[in-house]
Amino acid sequence: MLNIAIFGSGSGSNYQAIAEAIERGTIDARIVCVLADVEDAFILERARKLGHPAIYIDCAPFKTKLDDAAEARAIDVIKDNGGDFIVLAGFMRIVKPGLLNAFAGRIINIHPSLLPQFPGLHAGQQALDAGAKETGCTVHFVDEGIDTGAVIVQKKVPILPNDTTETLMNRIHKQEHLAYPEALKKIAENKL
Ligand code: GRF
Repeated sequence: MLNIAIFGSGSGSNYQAIAEAIERGTIDARIVCVLADVEDAFILERARKLGHPAIYIDCAPFKTKLDDAAEARAIDVIKDNGGDFIVLAGFMRIVKPGLLNAFAGRIINIHPSLLPQFPGLHAGQQALDAGAKETGCTVHFVDEGIDTGAVIVQKKVPILPNDTTETLMNRIHKQEHLAYPEALKKIAENKL
């Protein structure tokens, strides 16, 4: 069984989709805690509603990384809650070697493009700017690069002529909510 710690910074809709798939019995896993680097992130409110420990990790003064102290706190929280696997679900910070080594091969992320296309920020806008005909989402293992780890699941979505970033991202989000549970099911069943 996977004992999952979720990391997020925003809405947490992927976390919710994973929690619902676990609740339905689709994935042999449990969510042991939800960590966020934004104190009023909606993901923490969802966690409180779903009855998962909801923990704010203060990362000030850094804006894009998890510094050593915050990283050490996160590792303590995960271990105290019995976590052995990390799911990044809209977590907007770079994970550094301390955490990567503590959970080697056991951290995954979701990105709103068909990696290796359009890594980094604003993937939907990047796809529109490139005039791509399709994009999608990718669940992948996390390594030291940005959106570079081994791919677990990808789902495609078409890009329509009148798409805005918002309409495109909404379409991608729907596929993300299928892709993340599917990837976790594969990992839980050792089917990679
Ligand atoms: C998703 O689009 C994901 O690809 C990106 O951040 C977003 C998180 O959305 N990494 P949510 O917080 O799960 O709703």
